[in-house]
Order: sequence, then structure tokens, then C-alpha cells
Amino acid sequence: NTLWLIVPAAGQGKRMGATKPKQYLALGEQPILAHTLSRLYAAFPTAHLVLCLDNDDCWFSSAWVPFANWQRVSGGAERMDSVLNALKSITAQQDDVVIVHDVARPCVTSADLLALLHAANEHPSGALLAMPVADTMKRANAEQLSTATESRDGLWHALTPQGFRYALLRQALEHAVDHQRVVTDEASAVEALGEAPRLVSGRRDNLKITHPDDLALAAAIMASQAA
Ligand code: C5P
Repeated sequence: NTLWLIVPAAGQGKRMGATKPKQYLALGEQPILAHTLSRLYAAFPTAHLVLCLDNDDCWFSSAWVPFANWQRVSGGAERMDSVLNALKSITAQQDDVVIVHDVARPCVTSADLLALLHAANEHPSGALLAMPVADTMKRANAEQLSTATESRDGLWHALTPQGFRYALLRQALEHAVDHQRVVTDEASAVEALGEAPRLVSGRRDNLKITHPDDLALAAAIMASQAA
């Protein structure tokens, strides 16, 4: 079976406040996108990559793609539309595993990628990297006043990658589109079908670059991982 990797990279990354999408900002010598793709390649060198890019993207260079098998597809209005476009563009078998990983997470390690693939292969409902919530969770009202403290028992942060069989993931995302539900990860769409994906404990340093401060943090994480 072919292993498919979908990397949604068609977002604007507005919270970074930069003039170009965040995946093209430099982290050391290379743009974030190049780091993310080389981490994926190190773990899955024979996988088939599907990269979701905005049609107006004028920053992308194919020189950053280490995979022999890859294709570019158009992004959609939301992240889930980008991923669904990718699923519709590939000729996958129903039981092929598809791993989706945000371009904005360049610090993911090979060990975490391989653990996720293993779980996605084992569990019919798929799997996602995740991390138990460590902070006390507050419920805010419209005035940003803390009105209650939520129990964090059983609460996890959802990370990427997330991996599912092709047929299940496609059905889940089409179901979300049909019901006009915007989901921010694949697992939410799969849960809506009554499935329960496996949570795989991931590393805390699998940071999602979202705000300007995150760039320096990601550089420090990469330096510490290399040490
Ligand atoms: O903006 P945010 O960081 O939440 O986006 C998560 C991921 O989804 C990013 O990798 C972004 O490029 C991607 N995305 C996409 N298509 C969209 C919106 C976001 O591929 N329409």
C-alpha cells in the first residue's frame, strides 16, 4: 500500500502579522516549509506527498521538496477544504493510510512520526498525536472575565500529524462539508461519524508556529534536538 502525506499549506497565517504566509518565513537558513518537509521525508522517504498551496502562492519553490513522488493541489477556503481537495486529487486505495501534517509544525520528530504511523495502522478509527493538558483551564465570558474553572481530566491538546484510512477520512470530511461544519483537525470530523481515534502521546516541543514569538522558540527547539 502507498503511504500518503497531506501537508495543508494554503493558509495566510495572519496571526504572524508578516507580509508573506508563515511557512515561507525563515527558520535559520531555510523556510519553515522546507524544514517540515525534510522532517517528514526523514521518517517516510518513500511516501507520496500532496502539498496544498494557494493558487496565488508566488513564494513556493519545488527545490524544497525532497520527495520523489509528490503533487501540488489547490488549497480551499478552510484547512478542511484544502485537505479534502488533496484527498479528491489522489488515486488511493480505500485502506491506504493518509497522514495529515500542518506545515506550521516543523519541529516534529521521526520518533513521533513513526509512532503515529504505527497507531494509524493498528486502529481502524485512526490516530493523532496529542498531549495531556497541563494548565488549569478557565472559562471566560465576553468581557474576558474568568467565570469558571473547567476540569482538565481527560483533556488533551490535539497536535498533528493525524493518520486515518483513506476511505474513513474522505467520508468524514465530506460529512463535515455536507453538514456545514468547520473542523480544525481531521480527528473532529472522524469523531462526528461516531469513531474514536487513538490519542498518541506526542512531544511537548511539537510546536505549531502561530505567533511571531514562536519563530525564536522553534529555532531553540531545533537547536536542542540537534544537540
Ligand atoms: O492558520 P492555521 O495555523 O490554523 O492553519 C493550520 C494549517 O492549515 C496551516 O498549515 C495552514 O497553511 C493550513 N491551511 C490550509 N488552507 C486553509 C487554511 C489553512 O491549507 N484554507
